[in-house]
Order: sequence, then structure tokens, then C-alpha cells
Amino acid sequence: MGKVILTGDRPTGKLHLGHYVGSLRRRVQLQNEGDYDRMFVFMADIQALTDNADNPEKIRQNIIEVALDYLSAGLDPEKCTLFIQSQIPELSELTTYLMNLVSVSRVQRNPTVKTEIKMRNFEANIPLGFFCYPVSQAADITAFKATTVPAGEDQSPMIELCRELARRFNQTYGEVLVEPTIMLPENATARRLPGTDGKEKMSKSLGNCIYLSDDADTVWQKVRSMYTDPTHVNVSDPGHVEGNTVFTYLEAFSTDDDFAEYWPEFKNLDELKAAYTAGGIGDMKCKKMLNKVINKMLDPIRQRRKEFEQDIPEIYNILKKGSESARETAAQTLSEVRKAMKINYFEDSELIKQQAEKYKQQ
Ligand code: TRP
Repeated sequence: MGKVILTGDRPTGKLHLGHYVGSLRRRVQLQNEGDYDRMFVFMADIQALTDNADNPEKIRQNIIEVALDYLSAGLDPEKCTLFIQSQIPELSELTTYLMNLVSVSRVQRNPTVKTEIKMRNFEANIPLGFFCYPVSQAADITAFKATTVPAGEDQSPMIELCRELARRFNQTYGEVLVEPTIMLPENATARRLPGTDGKEKMSKSLGNCIYLSDDADTVWQKVRSMYTDPTHVNVSDPGHVEGNTVFTYLEAFSTDDDFAEYWPEFKNLDELKAAYTAGGIGDMKCKKMLNKVINKMLDPIRQRRKEFEQDIPEIYNILKKGSESARETAAQTLSEVRKAMKINYFEDSELIKQQAEKYKQQ
């Protein structure tokens, strides 16, 4: 059995720096290290529709946004299969079979689903499709026999359910599916990048995101107005780095090389932190540093994005080819699934022979 990576995003908006540090950057590394036999990255449009059923145009528009974000961040269709969930009908089929192996109350206990139901005010009226999406997600993973799912902590309950379903399937019908493990982001800053306003999380609805597709001017506007330390009024005042968004971002993005290049007065972030804490370092200087660091990181991404934007039909082509290739893998698993579940009637010549015998004797 090979090592297979699979992960994806709901195409409900462009990707931002939170996505980048939380997962996209890691995916590109994993892809380039090549330690895995196969890597799949997909857009979960069926899942996106479970709470956007009345807004398919939003999903349709964001497919291309997310694809551009993937490709410009460095995902390479030669090394990694990019596909769209809805184009693999086998995923819906497997979802249906897996639904028989889990109870309503088991899904109800999923803390991520609970929070989402609250956030969307679904309490009184949960769409059934939305309720079932954790099962559909288990199908996404098991249809590719994925061993490793890079994802955020909020996805842990989904992976746990997926493992249970795979185990349950194998016990009931025979060994076909693979139990995956989650691969969490390396460190705390990567796990949750706060918004530019200092709020817990970057989120489109809060308007506190820096997008991968933002140009340099937009990034500077956002960095300039970033939340810092409200007690740091005069430059000479001692500053606080805890809960100071500029420092959280520097933590997530800056390297010692960045200091050598842009602010050689300090060897690294620790030295800057010490000086800021002691007093005498203005917020604006830190923001300028952060702006340079972010733009240095985004520049190559922007450049690739520009190139990809010149040939949008080619992007659809990449997604189509990726979806065809992904479908072959899923179809192989589904053929094993049907066989194990004894619903492969027409491929089972033994079955046909036995039935013929049985009725001849009567
Ligand atoms: N639930 C994930 C999210 O909200 C998207 C997703 C769907 C996914 N299917 C998946 C992630 C399978 C990893 C594996 O971002």
C-alpha cells in the first residue's frame, strides 16, 4: 500500500494568508519533497453546496479563484492531481453506502458540525445534505485510499469519523478501505492566524483578511491599519508583543534572512521583540518590515497568478484532466467496494452460474 495524501477546500472564497500558513504552504512542500506516492488536492464543491444550495453561482465563480490560488502558490499539476469533487460521481455513491454505517446521533456529536450549525443558525432547520457532509467527507478520503490528510485542527472530528467508517466498512464487508491519519499544521501560529484586526481568525465575513491575490498597495493599506498594542502610545513606551498582530504575523512569516535584508539592526525576530518590549521601536517601522516580508512572499505568487490568468481555458483543462485521473482511482476503489458489498451482480459470473443451477433443480 502506498502513501497517499489527499486534502481540499470548499470553494466559497479566495484563499488568504491564513489558508497559506495553515495548509497551502505545507502542501507545496509535501508535493516538492515527493515522499508520497500520490497527492490529490481538490475543491469540495458538493460540500460547499450543502450550505450554499441557493447560490451555485458563488461556487462556480470561486472554483477558478481557488484554482488560481492553488497554481500560483505552487501546486503543480504534474506532481499533484487537482480535481473537482462533483466531477467524481463515485464519491456520491460511496457516501450513500457509508451512510448506512453510522447513526444520526454519532454525527450529531461532531463538535465541528455543532459549531457550524450554530454559526449558520441552522438549529431549527438543518439541511439534511449539510448534516451528512461529514460522511461525504469520509467518502472523499476513502475513495482514494488516502493515508494522510493535511488539515486544520477543526477537521480532526471529521477524520476520526472517517476512520470509524473505514473500520466499520472493513469489518462488515471485508478489507477494502484505508484508515487515514490527519497531519496537523506544524505550529500554533500556523494553526490559527488572527485577522488583521487582531480577532481570533481571518475570515471573509469579518473583512480582516489579506488575500493571496491582493496587490502590493492593498497589502500595505491592510498592514498599515493593523491592530498592534493599544498601550504602546509613544515610540518610547514599552510595547507588548503578546496579542500584537504585527508580531504574530512576523512570527508566522519572517525569517532571519528577511532581517538581514530589510532590518539589519536586528539579527532576528527575537532581537526585535526584545527591543520593542523595552521601548523605543515605533509600530510603523514594524509594519513596514512586515509589509516587506509579506510582499516578498507574495511577489512570486502574484507573478505566477498573472501568467495563469492569461490562459483561463488551460486552467479548466488542468482541472478536467485532474478530475478524469482522480475518477480512475475512485472508480477502482468503488469496484472493490461493490464487490465487497455483493452488488457487483453483472461482473460475478460465479453468481450467475450458481443462481442458474439453483433454479434448474427446482
Ligand atoms: N471540510 C474541509 C474544509 O472545510 C474541506 C474538505 C472536504 C476536505 N473534503 C475533504 C478536507 C477531505 C480534507 C479531506 O475545509
